[in-house]
Amino acid sequence: MLAKLLRTKPVEAHTNSGLKKCLSAFDLALLGIGCAIGTGIFVLTGLAAATQSGPAVVLSFVLAGVASGFAALAYAELAASVGGSGSAYGYSYVAFGELMAWVMGWILLLEYGVGAAAVANGWAGYFINTLANFNIYLPEALTKAPILGGIINLPAFAIIWLLTILLIIGVKESARFNNIIVVIKLSTIAIFIALAIGHLNTENWHPFMPFGWFETLDNGKNIGVLAGASLVFFAYFGFDAVSTAAEEAKNPQRDLPIGLLASLAFCTIIYIIVSAILTGVVPYTELNTTSPVAYALTKLGYTWASTLVATGVLAGLITVLLVLLYGLTRILFAMSRDGLISPIFSKVNPDRQTPTRIILMCGFVVSLVAGFFPLGELAETVNIGTLAAFVMVCVGVIVLRIRQPNLPRPFKNPFNPVIPVLGILSCGALMFFLPTSTWIRFGLWIVVGIVFYFIYSIRHSKLNA
Ligand code: ALA
Repeated sequence: MLAKLLRTKPVEAHTNSGLKKCLSAFDLALLGIGCAIGTGIFVLTGLAAATQSGPAVVLSFVLAGVASGFAALAYAELAASVGGSGSAYGYSYVAFGELMAWVMGWILLLEYGVGAAAVANGWAGYFINTLANFNIYLPEALTKAPILGGIINLPAFAIIWLLTILLIIGVKESARFNNIIVVIKLSTIAIFIALAIGHLNTENWHPFMPFGWFETLDNGKNIGVLAGASLVFFAYFGFDAVSTAAEEAKNPQRDLPIGLLASLAFCTIIYIIVSAILTGVVPYTELNTTSPVAYALTKLGYTWASTLVATGVLAGLITVLLVLLYGLTRILFAMSRDGLISPIFSKVNPDRQTPTRIILMCGFVVSLVAGFFPLGELAETVNIGTLAAFVMVCVGVIVLRIRQPNLPRPFKNPFNPVIPVLGILSCGALMFFLPTSTWIRFGLWIVVGIVFYFIYSIRHSKLNA
């Protein structure tokens, strides 16, 4: 039994998927940027500045970016050497064996599925607000989850289905669509920077750290720059989706490390600039709104730009959703191909060369979650899952260097094991700064996953057949 759980998978098992190899390094970097820049920078920056970090939200972004950087280097090494469309799930299979791989896949499902549903809810909020600006009002029952007094959040439900259809049409078309919208999203950020930078008032940066480094309040809420870093970490989640496209990359060994590191570096710079300007033009105490960037522009007197930026954010969140759904389908695809979930889901449609069934199933489940549940409070649950995945990937680098020293590694972390150890420590610290309630939700999810594994997956695993 123990031998079964610990048996690892050979690296060769990840080739010849039947998926179309069509993504370049540039496509991959834009895939990462398309997924990363979204709710985190456009919404959570304001929340973190007003309630946890103050103007030092810039520092929170730097800290979360550094932790993500160590993880990105670990991802780059494993994506280039192990490959496969399952990302951290596939690497765990090779490094730790099946049980840990299952747990990792289970965590990734939470991360991508709940993340997509949450971002769809955020998108719906912007959409409803934008319609209201044009005096179009949807019936309230169709804009809210049942628990909030509505029937369904129809815009959130519908946007997931729209993107599901796009993914079924085929990955190259989707990547092209992603590239166009990333350009629109970056243009909105450029407009914000160009207009706001002339209005910087350094007095807004004082006090710089009104909430200190870290403190747990009586109500269980964590405040301070470090707690802020754990929250805005959501802004970085997504660049790792690049690694799920390994089997569709033209030249994975070279292009995956470039795609991962370039998208992370780019996002970090954008986040530092935007958060510094945002807290420099508006007092941090005013930033706890659903659209802080648009709010700042309105306050500076640029109403037209505010509407334009809000529209750009809508487009931007679509690419985040697209990449999250894409990543979710590819992780499920890999898990199904290994027999851990039903093999029905790993059939690739021969005409389209995409896993149609899995995409439909993801669209179905995520659209229901997005339509019927208010998922705002689950953002931190997504973060704890992502951080756990990052820690495991860093551990995976160290373990594989010992277990398979001769594995070809086109991209290698220098000074092994310093970088993965720093990744484990920094991502582990960010997990530590999350609230206890988040830890409890995460623990429950893991327990359910392990039960499912022993009821179904262990009997159907191809590796143990
Ligand atoms: N990083 C993505 C966002 O901020 C998930 O929306």
